[in-house]
Amino acid sequence: MDAQLPTDLLGAIDQLRKERNAVILAHYYQEPDIQDVADFIGDSLQLARAAQGTKADVILFCGVHFMAETAKILNPTRTVLIPDMAAGCSLADACPAPMLARMKARYPDHKVVSYINCSAAVKAISDIICTSSNAERVVRSFPADQPLIFAPDRNLGAYIAKQTGRPMQLWPGTCMVHETFNERKMIELQVRHPGSKIIAHPECEPSLLEKADFVGSTSALLDFVVKSPATTFIVATEPGILHQMAKSSPDKLLIPLPGMDENCACNECPHMKRNTLEKMYLALRDMKPELVMGEELRLAALKPLEAMLALG
Ligand code: 13P
Ligand code: SF4
Repeated sequence: MDAQLPTDLLGAIDQLRKERNAVILAHYYQEPDIQDVADFIGDSLQLARAAQGTKADVILFCGVHFMAETAKILNPTRTVLIPDMAAGCSLADACPAPMLARMKARYPDHKVVSYINCSAAVKAISDIICTSSNAERVVRSFPADQPLIFAPDRNLGAYIAKQTGRPMQLWPGTCMVHETFNERKMIELQVRHPGSKIIAHPECEPSLLEKADFVGSTSALLDFVVKSPATTFIVATEPGILHQMAKSSPDKLLIPLPGMDENCACNECPHMKRNTLEKMYLALRDMKPELVMGEELRLAALKPLEAMLALG
């Protein structure tokens, strides 16, 4: 460990949190020790709302870059820190704003619904944002004859198109974690655990979603495990969520679905996992890396986020 790091890292983070009047927000895919030290844990929508409503001077955002950007867009007077600025997202990377602008130009009568897993620049040219927990409601908020582009997650887009019965032009992005899930392994596990429930995040491939007993955002999956009378769950999302599932349902068997290669950790998000307690401590100590954003871009990206939040 770095000689400059205190031995009681948790105590030091807590001390700095008080001194800086900081709030620590963490996504469910963070390591358990980060979730345990956080003030608030949630899915993308819950974290956006928490960032918007906080009175703290500093937001230490333990998630990925687009989430910290969203916090800054919604609460610009706060200092937003991210433990590792390189914590990106394959979905956000798959959709550069100039390319989405070209697609928009090809479909001038279409409105653009963008999944929150995208850059501020993509948000700025979108009509409305959605998350995995409100995507269906957002799509249904448009008149049935309004043609739509859905970006950047083609799996979430296809799932919502099926749920709502309205075809959409889908941007071909995918999540590098959810596309690695192995359908054969999922069926094997189900056979080995009769009565188990398959629960899946909508970023998974359509063939997996078709076989799932329940599809939802991270918080919806957690809620399903708590409320379901079943005792065994095969969990098709990033295994970070298992920490809160195990805490709230200690008597239930939770089986994380492995990726293609059982020996790799490819079902773990390498971006989310860049954040560590050490980096959190350094971020609060040095007040960097800080997420900064030009006001013009922020205001343009705020509009579609506000349109989403206005739906309730
Ligand atoms: P939710 O937590 O909003 O379901 O999103 C999952 C995800 O992949 C975040 O990057
Ligand atoms: Fe992006 Fe997938 Fe990681 Fe979520 S799990 S941050 S969608 S790469």
